[in-house]
Amino acid sequence: MSEKFYVTTPIYYVNDKPHLGHAYTTTAADVVARFNRFLGRDVFFLTGTDEHGQKIQQAAEKMGMSPKEFVDRLVPVFKKLWEVLNISYDHFIRTTDPEHVKAVQHIFMKCYENGDIYLGEYEGWYCIPCETYYTEKDLIDGKLCPACKREVTRVKEESYFFRLSKYQDKLLELYEKNPDFIGPEFRRNEVINFVKQGLKDLSISRTSFSWGIPVPINEKHVIYVWFDALTNYLTAVGYPNDTERLNRYWPADLHLVGKDILRFHAVYWPAFLMSAGLPVPKRVFAHGWWTVEGEKMSKSKGNVVDPFEVVEKFGVDQVRFFLFREVSFGLDGDFSYEKLVARINGELANDLGNLFNRTLSMLKKYRKSVVPEPKGEFDELDKKIANKALATLKALKELIPRAELSKALDEIWQFVGFVNYYIDRRAPWSLKKEGKDAELDTVLYNMVEALRFITAFLYPYMPASAEKMVQLLKLDTKAQELRAEQFESWGGIEPGREVEKGGILFPRIEFNPETGEVKLAKTKKG
Ligand code: MSP
Repeated sequence: MSEKFYVTTPIYYVNDKPHLGHAYTTTAADVVARFNRFLGRDVFFLTGTDEHGQKIQQAAEKMGMSPKEFVDRLVPVFKKLWEVLNISYDHFIRTTDPEHVKAVQHIFMKCYENGDIYLGEYEGWYCIPCETYYTEKDLIDGKLCPACKREVTRVKEESYFFRLSKYQDKLLELYEKNPDFIGPEFRRNEVINFVKQGLKDLSISRTSFSWGIPVPINEKHVIYVWFDALTNYLTAVGYPNDTERLNRYWPADLHLVGKDILRFHAVYWPAFLMSAGLPVPKRVFAHGWWTVEGEKMSKSKGNVVDPFEVVEKFGVDQVRFFLFREVSFGLDGDFSYEKLVARINGELANDLGNLFNRTLSMLKKYRKSVVPEPKGEFDELDKKIANKALATLKALKELIPRAELSKALDEIWQFVGFVNYYIDRRAPWSLKKEGKDAELDTVLYNMVEALRFITAFLYPYMPASAEKMVQLLKLDTKAQELRAEQFESWGGIEPGREVEKGGILFPRIEFNPETGEVKLAKTKKG
């Protein structure tokens, strides 16, 4: 049986429509999933929705609906977005799924039986939008949430507590022994410092509202929404009954999260799992946040980027590419239409689109669009292009499964740049003029073979465009069926086969920032 790879996104709160931030984490997971399938792995890619808690209950009340009615109306919007973004998830979990409710109650009882849950009283502060507890000293100006800066609520109620304090040393040992457990590195240090400052027991039930999973031994309480939500990663792989499936896929290989929810995934979650006697995930990677033209995205500012709209205007792969190209994955970044347009015109239309176009036109002009046999001897540059292609693939294998998505894309772009440089240096037009036919064959061959590699490299990031590339090169396969083993050596594309005569992969665009209008730029004929 092939090696498995289990990758997850956070499950999204369905109190509102999805925005660019949600699209970001999910697209990242899609890149990782697609690349692992390309490696021949048995991938399980999970996403879904987080439907319980006070925040959802309140949003539903505002609309005069029951919470379930309310979430049922929003879930299809998330699913639609994943379709529009070409997200290849294997399963969509909802925390209102009956098997999830059972799984949460089961793990709660496991921790309880192991002596890690006790009844007490919670008195302190709670941020409903973040569904997070705070102590007095965490607050800004004594009343604002340190994360979202909204006003917190005073809470005093009976509550079950999880003995998080007991896990402090075990967690520190986990981080110490598994340097890869948290990425990027600087976030790992933040988490270690947080845990070193001391962990307090965590309130994991509420009595003041009802929209949640009941505590099995005390129906007055609903389980804290984060305890509920984190368990989704187990439910989806068969916990607790389907042990075969659970043993196959658990622990998860990669949890992708935003920096705001790293603490839940890298501190609370492994502690719950240890308590329940289950292995911890292999890696949690936290990405940064997008601002918009320097400002935090927020409804009140009216600057929330609607992913449906951006994709509609600029194209799905253009957006997918931009997300990982513009900002180093792991750091914060800034979104603007101008930057998006600059990447599309400069890198997709110019660097990549032109590379395909000029290669196919030369092949048409010099060899009637038939891939020639590389008869000429390989010179230094010919050897270099082959070696670079193989080295790039090797780098991607290291980087993408670890969620180093921008570093990987940078490697790919360096290769694209090198192929353009190769063509300029080997100058097929001069070889033609000088009548160096064998050498011309070799160079043209290498150009097409390089495009075959680029197609595979870009497939995880831009699946629809990779499909077009496959068609341009007439590769007799689908992009999603390409496998790493077809790229173990240089020379995979067979001489004698035909390729398309040309085609535009990424049209240049003109964008009017005043009106927001997007037009395809006029191209010169020819
Ligand atoms: N429901 C919890 C997750 C539970 S996982 C067991 C949750 N949901 S969320 O809908 O609020 O956020 C989901 C993801 O969106 C987070 O990873 C968060 O970082 C990401 N983003 C929300 N706004 C963002 C930006 N402005 N930029 C980038 N990502 C951001 O938290």
